[in-house]
Amino acid sequence: MHVQHTDRSEPPRLRLRNISVRFGGLTALDSVDLEVAPGRAAGVIGPNGAGKTTLFNTVCGLVRASSGTLELDGAAFTPVPHRLAPLGVSRTLQALGLFEGLTVLENVTAALRPAGTGFLRDLLALPGGARAEKAARERAMQELESLGIASHASALPATLPYGVRKKAALARALATDPRLLLLDEPAGGLGRDDIDELADLIRAIPGRGCSVVLVEHHVDLVMAVCDRITVLDFGRVIADGTAAAVREDPAVTDAYLGAGAA
Ligand SMILES: Nc1ncnc2c1ncn2[C@@H]1O[C@H](COP(=O)(O)OP(=O)(O)O)[C@@H](O)[C@H]1O
Ligand SMILES: [Mg+2]
Repeated sequence: MHVQHTDRSEPPRLRLRNISVRFGGLTALDSVDLEVAPGRAAGVIGPNGAGKTTLFNTVCGLVRASSGTLELDGAAFTPVPHRLAPLGVSRTLQALGLFEGLTVLENVTAALRPAGTGFLRDLLALPGGARAEKAARERAMQELESLGIASHASALPATLPYGVRKKAALARALATDPRLLLLDEPAGGLGRDDIDELADLIRAIPGRGCSVVLVEHHVDLVMAVCDRITVLDFGRVIADGTAAAVREDPAVTDAYLGAGAA
């Protein structure tokens, strides 16, 4: 359906085909198609109840699609929440999910030290583990620096402004060098200045070769950072294109005005 890619030999990083999600009698998503090219940012917007969170949860494996398929780099993808990291898929949640008893640096380092069985964990438990631990800490610190919050490394999250905590959650998601980053309403609870700063940070992510899917109620943020925007209303895709095209689309204006009036 979509013919946006210049390089046809390269499959989309993420592709949703015909995804429907039903909760009892309610159709939360209705035959949704979506693709994100490698190193691109895709936005999903829509009024309250449009199905944004359901779509996000479907890609994270928190909700199972009633029908349709997902693909990651051209391969069938059945998302399972705790198995996303090994596939290079990372996410931030609206409720940041930082460990309140750990410092910012420890929170980010924890992402590099999976709790389950795993290569890095085994490495950390073995002689030479101290060295792996040091490497993880250095990698985490580097991420804090790149997001401009290195000076808060040893602070506990609860002592920090919300905008800084959001960046800490983003640093944690990026520290694993994901190929796909899923962001759920990252602008929620932020003021104008923080949103502008966040926009700059998100805009820099595709440059690292990581694709971004940004699910957001905040239209301005999505318009500022996304190459391509999918608009949902009542679970259906009502528009799909560049920020400029979507902004001009009467169906989109109607959906938002309708929601505002309701
Ligand atoms: N777990 C659930 N059980 C039943 N209905 C749900 C569930 N989650 C979402 N819904 C419904 O699905 C629709 C889409 O919700 P949601 O994805 O949260 O929309 P958005 O994030 O765009 O506001 C809404 O009508 C909502 O009430
Ligand atoms: Mg939502």
